[in-house]
Amino acid sequence: MTTTTPSVELSGITKRFPGVVANRDVNIKAQAGHVHAIVGENGAGKSTLMNILYGLLRPDEGTIHVDGREVSFASPSDAIAAGIGMVHQHFKLADNFTVLENVVLGAEPTRGGRLDFEAARQRITEISQRYGLEVETDALVEELGVGDRQRVEILKVLYRGARILILDEPTAVLVPQEVDELFDALRELKGEGLTVIFISHKLDEVLSVADEITVIRRGTTVTTVEDPRSVTARQLAELMVGSELPVPELRESTVQDRVMLTADGLTLTLPDGRTVLSDVTFSIRSGEILGIAGVEGNGQAELVEAVMGVRRPTSGTVHLGGEDVSHWSTRQRREAGLAYIPEDRTRSALLLEAPLWENRMLGHQTMAPNARGPLLNRGGARADTERIVREYDVRTPSIDVAASALSGGNQQKLIVGREMTGEPQVLVAAHPTRGVDVGAQAAIWEHIRNARAAGLAVLLISADLDELIGMSDRLTVIFRGQLVADFDPRQVTPQQLGSAMTGAGEAA
Ligand SMILES: Nc1ncnc2c1ncn2[C@@H]1O[C@H](COP(=O)(O)OP(=O)(O)OP(=O)(O)O)[C@@H](O)[C@H]1O
Ligand SMILES: [Mg+2]
Repeated sequence: MTTTTPSVELSGITKRFPGVVANRDVNIKAQAGHVHAIVGENGAGKSTLMNILYGLLRPDEGTIHVDGREVSFASPSDAIAAGIGMVHQHFKLADNFTVLENVVLGAEPTRGGRLDFEAARQRITEISQRYGLEVETDALVEELGVGDRQRVEILKVLYRGARILILDEPTAVLVPQEVDELFDALRELKGEGLTVIFISHKLDEVLSVADEITVIRRGTTVTTVEDPRSVTARQLAELMVGSELPVPELRESTVQDRVMLTADGLTLTLPDGRTVLSDVTFSIRSGEILGIAGVEGNGQAELVEAVMGVRRPTSGTVHLGGEDVSHWSTRQRREAGLAYIPEDRTRSALLLEAPLWENRMLGHQTMAPNARGPLLNRGGARADTERIVREYDVRTPSIDVAASALSGGNQQKLIVGREMTGEPQVLVAAHPTRGVDVGAQAAIWEHIRNARAAGLAVLLISADLDELIGMSDRLTVIFRGQLVADFDPRQVTPQQLGSAMTGAGEAA
């Protein structure tokens, strides 16, 4: 037991939503100068708890103390005033502004009523040097990679004087080198006496960076591990789930002869002259998973959109099972057996305000069981949504709640379930398990592997190198719109892959 006053103390926090108790008597004490990790399954209540601490939600019961003083936040500005800052999983920067502008946005220093950008620049430089968060203050945010953007988000929070930093799944989008850099920065921050609250589903990372780990299961604190060296990732996962995890099965190849998806010479030049895809060529066979590794922003989003017909390439073709589908619409491609798990679930895969069963029909309105002839079949869609909720373990009070009421990971499970239904021939999967807990991740991998054994061809894009290495039959790296290197997933290490992704080893 520590005797110092915790920097943050959450006591007896309870938060109810219709049909769900998201937090039930949660107790957490985080110390200054420590990284305090919070782990738990999808829907366990982690984000809800952090939204309460950040003033976005009000608890139904319980108290919050900051440095020993009881506080009550009506909004995030109250929390910011109390020294709390939050970096959300989805970055909230304005793309067409500079780093400097983004950091000071909403907290502008003034001199005689005018913006004093020089003072701001100086402070940002000070902060970034102090914590090893190097960024170029005059760069446009849209030109930055994910790792840089995240540093800007953290700078923004520190610029507002935060002493308590909440990071909700900060590493989901980072490559290993960037994760190392982030963790170095976190160590600096705690060295300066800041409190870091860190949420992640990557348990190895949690074990390497955390000083204490609180495990939340179904809304309630199960335990706080005071010494992370005393547990393994597997034990942590079992604490989260409350039972033992199955041991993963070994892979065997299921690759057949028939080519299911071919991209030939895909090139995409934007109106501003930038070439974001350059002569991308590959083919995937029945029963095969082709993994594409890359730092975000190297053309993978455009590649996926070109394959799906969301975006017309400048040149090049897409064949589906031998047929040229280059001029087909997305719907025609879907009807021909192409399934799609998009990168940004809240923007392009879900209607957040619509109930789950309507989301089941999204993009599949013309297909069974959502349609009977030219008519919608609501009963069929509802029954099938119930089945997906069961088979994919979507934690929800019912299929009538809005998709926005699901936790991030549970939204993802619903999308994967929808896309895997109807025996697709080809699956284009961008980050299929992003934000999903370890148990659900294993379950999704199992579903995909079973479909592969039955002949599914998969184009897998992921920032999770363990996922790419563990799932793929072949691996290739995309860098600046080009496929630059092929690897055998049985031989490559995450470090080697990470180097290829950042262009290291590229001849100058
Ligand atoms: N606005 C809301 N309305 C109704 N229910 C909600 C709302 N927000 C969250 N919930 C429910 O509260 C529970 C906890 O959700 P929360 O987002 O806190 O989980 P989480 O631990 O962050 O999960 P994940 O790892 O998937 O992000 C879930 O059952 C979720 O469905
Ligand atoms: Mg969450």
